[in-house]
Amino acid sequence: MKAVVRTNFDDSVSAYDAYERQTGRFTALARLLAAEMAARADGPFAAVLDAGAGTGVSTRVFADRTQRTVALDISREMLRELESAPRVAADFDHLPFVDDTFDGVAFTASLFLVPDPAVAAREAARVLRPEGVVGAVAPLGWVDADGEDVFATLERESRSPVGADEVEAALDDAFTVTAGTWRFATTAADVRRFHAIPAMAARLYPNLAAEERVAKAEELLADLEGTVEQRWRWIVGVAE
Ligand SMILES: C[S@@+](CC[C@H](N)C(=O)[O-])C[C@H]1O[C@@H](n2cnc3c(N)ncnc32)[C@H](O)[C@@H]1O
Repeated sequence: MKAVVRTNFDDSVSAYDAYERQTGRFTALARLLAAEMAARADGPFAAVLDAGAGTGVSTRVFADRTQRTVALDISREMLRELESAPRVAADFDHLPFVDDTFDGVAFTASLFLVPDPAVAAREAARVLRPEGVVGAVAPLGWVDADGEDVFATLERESRSPVGADEVEAALDDAFTVTAGTWRFATTAADVRRFHAIPAMAARLYPNLAAEERVAKAEELLADLEGTVEQRWRWIVGVAE
């Protein structure tokens, strides 16, 4: 499954950048997460691991607020886009760092992409100093103006490898956590842009090849109109 996720993101660089330029969504998520993490850090918030850094959207946000932010991602193609920070191509289930290296570990829209988030949660706890902070955001989906799940209305399931509840439970086992929901008012056009990213279209059509899955997602969403709310769960935990 990880090889599939890596290939999906390797194929997604230009569409990901286009979506981010248009919406700024991942920048917004990283800013909100950084604020929640910094507010709970007891002691310095100077060295941060951006776990699942992608093209560096979240890395730039954390780098602006810390002395040193290290970007780590399993997709070399995504990571290649980032030139301004130290980069490591690795799996966040096996972090190539000694114990107590970081004040914070941030999973901005990444921890739901592994088969078992508890593995990465334990790794995050290992590389964090005592009382360091972990943060994660995980998708809760899209809701239309009538409060209905957009994809249920379209009779299609939009599925992450693991759900937000599972991400929260994994972090809750390793940290003392606080969690909440962020809601973004957005448009049907942005839902289409999001699913023009091959890795996101895989939420709808995981078994199709990249181009075909994006085309099917475009077809599915063609008639969607109006305002749509996008929801994300945030979870912040403090290490023992
Ligand atoms: C939705 S992107 C988010 C990127 C970035 N944090 C941002 O805010 O734009 C998720 C990233 O997590 C990475 N990822 C998924 N599984 C991973 C793993 N096991 N180890 C490291 N990175 C992983 C993907 O390659 C992808 O770049």
